[in-house]
Amino acid sequence: MSIPATGLSELALVVEGRTKILVPPASLQSTVATKRDPVFFNSAAEFNRDISVIAYSSFLSNPNVGFYNSKNNRKHQGNEVVMADSLCGTGARGLRIAVEAMGIDKIYFNDANPLAVEIAKKSSAINQVKDKCLFSVNDVCKFLLNGTAQGNDIPATASRQINNEEKSSNKNNSKQRFTIVDLDPFGSPANYIDCVMRSVQNGGLVSVTATDTAVLCGKYPDVCLRKYYGMSLSNPYSNELALRLLMSLMALTSSRLGIGIRPLFAHTNMHYVRIYVQAVLSSKMANSVFDNIGYIQHCFRCGNRTASSLNNRSEVCGQCSSSIKTAGWLWIGKIYDKDFVREMLARTYLLKPNVAKHKSADQDIEMTPSKEYSSEETKEISQNAEREQAKEKRACKKLNTVQRLLSKCIDEYDDIPFYFTSDEIASRLNIGPPSLEAIIDNLSKAGFRTSPTGLNSTGFKTAGKINEIMTFFSG
Ligand SMILES: C[S@@+](CC[C@H](N)C(=O)[O-])C[C@H]1O[C@@H](n2cnc3c(N)ncnc32)[C@H](O)[C@@H]1O
Ligand SMILES: [Zn+2]
Repeated sequence: MSIPATGLSELALVVEGRTKILVPPASLQSTVATKRDPVFFNSAAEFNRDISVIAYSSFLSNPNVGFYNSKNNRKHQGNEVVMADSLCGTGARGLRIAVEAMGIDKIYFNDANPLAVEIAKKSSAINQVKDKCLFSVNDVCKFLLNGTAQGNDIPATASRQINNEEKSSNKNNSKQRFTIVDLDPFGSPANYIDCVMRSVQNGGLVSVTATDTAVLCGKYPDVCLRKYYGMSLSNPYSNELALRLLMSLMALTSSRLGIGIRPLFAHTNMHYVRIYVQAVLSSKMANSVFDNIGYIQHCFRCGNRTASSLNNRSEVCGQCSSSIKTAGWLWIGKIYDKDFVREMLARTYLLKPNVAKHKSADQDIEMTPSKEYSSEETKEISQNAEREQAKEKRACKKLNTVQRLLSKCIDEYDDIPFYFTSDEIASRLNIGPPSLEAIIDNLSKAGFRTSPTGLNSTGFKTAGKINEIMTFFSG
């Protein structure tokens, strides 16, 4: 397939899910995407884009999840469902949503890098979704605050004047705002949260990624305090603290704007934290933000951990009287809406491979232009059937991983804002790590509410204290 020239002499075609994505070949050679790449594409983020496909589809499809029940019910207002891929890079997320997700009428792609937007536009044509995609090159906050009044036909740098009449009509009409706003920056999203929360409809969904995990997971607590209004800690569950620090920043920023947030879903890996929240214009919800903001305190001596409201912080460990370290302010409330996560689980079928329609696994990456096949390529084509099988197997494995994660989140006691790991208990007791099933089973039988967690494969949440867990397993 021949792809027209862009600022890059050659592009590669990647197939992710059911979507074809044009990317700079260099971005496929390293596993870590960086700011220095001419155009950003991170193949390692496929899993988190898979999650977006099912999260947005769930949000838009199930009336119980909330959006259709909100005051801005699109059936009442005749609004289109519009998504903003506000830092789109090569457009990987927005393209996947355009091709694979359900219920979205229009997707706005924006990036400050014109080359990235040009490539995203070409990909939209290849996927035959050009009609529902609009593109702009703009600073993220300018783009978000312009709302839906921009796109293909508007010069990227044009700033839009909003007159008084529009201002008053916008007061009760969220038509200009986006139904879904995604923010996927390099590093911290902290600079942009205000713009994001101002640009989303009442009842709309916001998804945010943070990749500054060193800051959020305790390596730079002072930077964390400056950016997220809370101290981070490096401990066995610091990814959960990271997620809760980001949630807290979103809640505090929103409350200042008279918006309450309703957490829907959250997940993390070594490189990122990602959260999905619903934005609700409600001074009542905004006023009660501090019900969910507090501290998590950790004793590095005995492993004790506690959550407290802002008024109840301790100075010493309640178990061993050592001095205790504090993380926060952070979100201490629930992080999942279980109905929403159940809906996501039900929609994982969207990720099922439809191999007949697609290229085989090893053909996922096709360098272009390539008019004549080399002997090696010919050999590959003859092995097509095997590769189709391999691709299907890989997709099933991916599907299982997503389903396992969602099932764990459904079972998780997310009112407990920290977890323990079997390794941690084993190393404190100097024993081999007990199986997660045994831990959950035994602690539950002993009367402690105990569950797995989606945040760590060997993690568990329990109402039991560290000394109770230790006594239980040493005995
Ligand atoms: C992490 S990448 C986005 C990846 C993309 N969402 C994906 O799924 O592949 C961040 C993008 O933000 C863009 N960017 C950085 N600062 C920006 C700003 N102030 N306004 C608009 N775009 C910006 C960069 O050009 C880059 O493409
Ligand atoms: Zn202690």
